[in-house]
Amino acid sequence: MKSKLPTVGTTIFTVMSKLAADTGAINLSQGFPDFDCDPALVDAVARHMREGRNQYAPMQGVPALRQAIARKFLALYGASYDPDAEVTVTSGGTEGIFDAVAAVVHPGDEVIVFEPCYDSYVPAIEVSGGTAVVVSLRYPDYAVPWDEVRAAITPRTRMIMLNSPHNPTAAILGADDMARLAQLVAGTDISILSDEVYEHIIFDGVRHESMARYATLRERSFIVGSFGKTYHVTGWKVGYVVAPARLTAEFRKLHQFVTFSTNTPVQHALAEFLDQQRGYPELAAFYERKRDLFLDLISGSRWTPLPSRGTYFQLLDYSAITSEPDMDFALRLTKEHGVASIPTSAFLYKQAAPPVLRFCFAKKDETLRAAAERLRAL
Ligand SMILES: Cc1ncc(COP(=O)(O)O)c(C=O)c1O
Repeated sequence: MKSKLPTVGTTIFTVMSKLAADTGAINLSQGFPDFDCDPALVDAVARHMREGRNQYAPMQGVPALRQAIARKFLALYGASYDPDAEVTVTSGGTEGIFDAVAAVVHPGDEVIVFEPCYDSYVPAIEVSGGTAVVVSLRYPDYAVPWDEVRAAITPRTRMIMLNSPHNPTAAILGADDMARLAQLVAGTDISILSDEVYEHIIFDGVRHESMARYATLRERSFIVGSFGKTYHVTGWKVGYVVAPARLTAEFRKLHQFVTFSTNTPVQHALAEFLDQQRGYPELAAFYERKRDLFLDLISGSRWTPLPSRGTYFQLLDYSAITSEPDMDFALRLTKEHGVASIPTSAFLYKQAAPPVLRFCFAKKDETLRAAAERLRAL
């Protein structure tokens, strides 16, 4: 059979998490918490199950949750979205990304992506017959080279995909980036996919630059969110996409046949939490403390941290320890030193991999302490 995705293998997250499990290593590779969510959230889901909310949700999502999402966008970003026509609940951010790309990209279209690049983006483009045009973020600050983006735009450019706060680099977009982006897309029909799944995990008092804040960007953007990241429930796979009505109409054509609708009792429970503004307002401080703890624990070692401005990831430069390629070192670090991480080469398409590994600090303090002790020994 001729593969539609001939270069796609098993994702690096699956590979490293399995290796960590097989070898008993501390798993700072895949991005998920090793602590539990708020027990009241589990109680709320159980209550909705017991009360019989166990059948298909409406295709576009439970109204209470769509309304709560729209209220959050208004409160945080001053953006008004119609919950009926512009907000869709999805089975995780991943489904939202896939449907948005598939809704917009036709065979022969080009989509600009930035490397290091979250691993689902390029397959989503290619399975729709599009071509990913890869622009490299500038190591080591991972800034967007806007002149290169300008040069990469052609009449076939259908979409630009951005991610801030950014996985795996923990870099963020600033107001100046938004201004450059707005200039570049003005007068074109280029859509934007803005992956904002880490919107609430941003540090040092800096504000999140959502596409929703800027009218000229909002009008062409699919904004992707994930409750997995926000409520420590990555296994529940519930997210959302907000987009202007004309984009949402096309988006829902895909969504209704990819998954039709998303887990009903979980949507009801999340609606309550979101409406009561629970969880997300304190998330940045919660993870900032974990970032600082992890940095403190490894300070004075041969690992050099790069700035982590958002997400729950920390890049560490290992050039003082070894000159091995990142994949080789990540494997050896797991097998011989008992700490699993993610090599950034897994997110790269054309740039040579720098000597950095990604560590997830969404972990209990004792997990971070145990991992840091092993890292310090190198
Ligand atoms: C940048 C980015 N986008 C999207 C996702 C997917 O989110 P979800 O788990 O809700 O599908 C992730 C998850 O790790 C991510 O890091």
